[in-house]
Amino acid sequence: MSMDRFNPLLSVENLVVEYGTPGSGFKALSGVSIDVGKGECVGVVGESGSGKSTLGKAILGLAPVTSGRIVFDGEDITQLKGAARRRLASSVQVVFQDPYGSLDPTMTVGDILAEPLEAAGKGRRAARSAVGEMIERVRLPQAAIDRYPSEFSGGQRQRIAIARALVRKPRLVVCDEPVSALDLTTQAAVIDLFIELQRDTGVSYLFVSHDLGVVRRICHRVAVMKRGEVVEFGDGEQVTRSPVHPYSARLLLASPVADPIAQAQRRAAWLQLRESDVATPAR
Ligand SMILES: Nc1ncnc2c1ncn2[C@@H]1O[C@H](COP(=O)(O)OP(=O)(O)OP(=O)(O)O)[C@@H](O)[C@H]1O
Ligand SMILES: [Mg+2]
Repeated sequence: MSMDRFNPLLSVENLVVEYGTPGSGFKALSGVSIDVGKGECVGVVGESGSGKSTLGKAILGLAPVTSGRIVFDGEDITQLKGAARRRLASSVQVVFQDPYGSLDPTMTVGDILAEPLEAAGKGRRAARSAVGEMIERVRLPQAAIDRYPSEFSGGQRQRIAIARALVRKPRLVVCDEPVSALDLTTQAAVIDLFIELQRDTGVSYLFVSHDLGVVRRICHRVAVMKRGEVVEFGDGEQVTRSPVHPYSARLLLASPVADPIAQAQRRAAWLQLRESDVATPAR
């Protein structure tokens, strides 16, 4: 499935989010505008506290919007509440950094994945078959269905969280630092999974990360946030390699290594050197 940037699935227009008393609270977002095309991955980077998660939460209806609009597939969803908001959950899903906190430890993986399908009215057998298919898509063994989240590694748990987000066939997934807690090798494998699932299903991602190397691998376009504002929004390659805004350039310099795979390879090579008892290379 191909990416269609000129036919936005999501558009965020001049969004203001204020925590505390409206009018005199703290503005976590002060006039943010971005859009995400069908099948597109848009990255959101910026230092801690710049408002990345707040943007994701606003789209999910979890942050207080003071002004501006969020339009999803032609519908204004800015202030959607109750049943209408719950209905939107089949189209807009989320994957968080910490799957431990978001996967019910008392439920088997099969039940975790089947629950939203059955809640949406799917019969038990149809739900089970969709779950089996999803488990295969995220490359977990079928036996995972009868196990509990605690029996899996961090990377596997993130695959479960991805499966749960995608099992309802959403059109947009808000991903908030979904690989930040993983070691570099696992990170690379999970990023590849995100890319593959997007290619196969045409789902769109809003991909929040503080890591420019990660967004460079997966995102078509990247927005750079600073203190509640988007200071730069453009082609992913360009923004992460030769940014226009001085703040983005500083962020690029602050990011330790651009490419997680290259870093993993360098680290492995260095460890091998040490193990073979060669003198520590000069830095
Ligand atoms: N519920 C809340 N009430 C009050 N202030 C909040 C709330 N949530 C976030 N903030 C503030 O809003 C600002 C933006 O927070 P946000 O979590 O969006 O940043 P972030 O870019 O995701 O940071 P990080 O990279 O650390 O996750 C921060 O100053 C934060 O302290
Ligand atoms: Mg955050």
